[in-house]
Formats: sequence, structure tokens, C-alpha cells
Amino acid sequence: MRLQSVVFLLLGFLATMSVRNQAIAGGWEPIKNINDPHVIDIANYAVTEHDKQAGLNLKLEKVISGETKVVDGIIYCLNITASDGSASNKYNLAVLEKLEQHFRNLTSFVPLQN
Ligand SMILES: *[C@@H]1O[C@H](CO)[C@@H](O)[C@H](O)[C@H]1NC(C)=O
Ligand SMILES: *[C@@H]1O[C@H](CO)[C@@H](O)[C@H](O)[C@H]1NC(C)=O
Repeated sequence: MRLQSVVFLLLGFLATMSVRNQAIAGGWEPIKNINDPHVIDIANYAVTEHDKQAGLNLKLEKVISGETKVVDGIIYCLNITASDGSASNKYNLAVLEKLEQHFRNLTSFVPLQN
């Protein structure tokens, strides 16, 4: 192969890679299927973790809506309803998950006005 062709191939490859990286480091994407078992699992993790931290006994009722963002892992930002047994309330939460490392962390859990 001539040097020129090698350089062209290399440039083409680099251009493709940079487009791909932009796609990976995207913005917030709405979660289309909020009944996805993995999304429910994330929401249950968040409620359980918040209960532990705050000494509460809330239970997840349902996921209302959510968004994900790819970072070094995936951030799940969810709106849910949870109940303490007598009253139901809306909450907004964020969980960072790194699937390969089996890592999850609740980074935010705040009540929303109904
Ligand atoms: C959560 O609900 C609030 C208020 O309705 C809305 O502004 C926000 O976009 C929702 N967030 C998600 C992640 O769905
Ligand atoms: C989890 O998130 C909290 C709140 O953002 C942060 O203070 C804490 O350091 C995080 N824990 C880990 C292990 O990253």
C-alpha cells in the first residue's frame, strides 16, 4: 500500500472514532420503557438505600418517568412514587451505575411537590 492510502485510511478511521465518541458521551435520553425490570431494580435500590441512610421505611410504588445519561457508567435520573404505608409521595432520585464493576451509588433522593 502507498503511504498516501495509509494516511487516508488513518484519517477516515480517526473521523469515525470521533463521531462515535460524541454519540457515547451524549446528553440525557428519556427512558422509553419505565417498566423495564432493570429500571425497577434501580428504583428499588434507590428507595432501600435512602431508607437505610434516612432511617425510613418507604416502599417503591412505581416509576413515573426517567432519563439516563452515559458518563463513566450510566446515571439514572428517575421520578417515582413511594409510600411509607400511610402516605404516598413523589421523589426524584439519581443513581450512578457501573455495570462491569458491579457498582451502584445513590447520589440524590429528593421529595417533589405533588
Ligand atoms: C421529573 O418530574 C419533574 C416535574 O414534573 C420534571 O420537570 C422532570 O423532567 C422529571 N424528571 C425526569 C427524570 O423524568
Ligand atoms: C456516593 O454518592 C454520594 C453522594 O453524591 C457521595 O458522597 C459518595 O462519595 C459516593 N460514594 C461512592 C462510593 O462513590
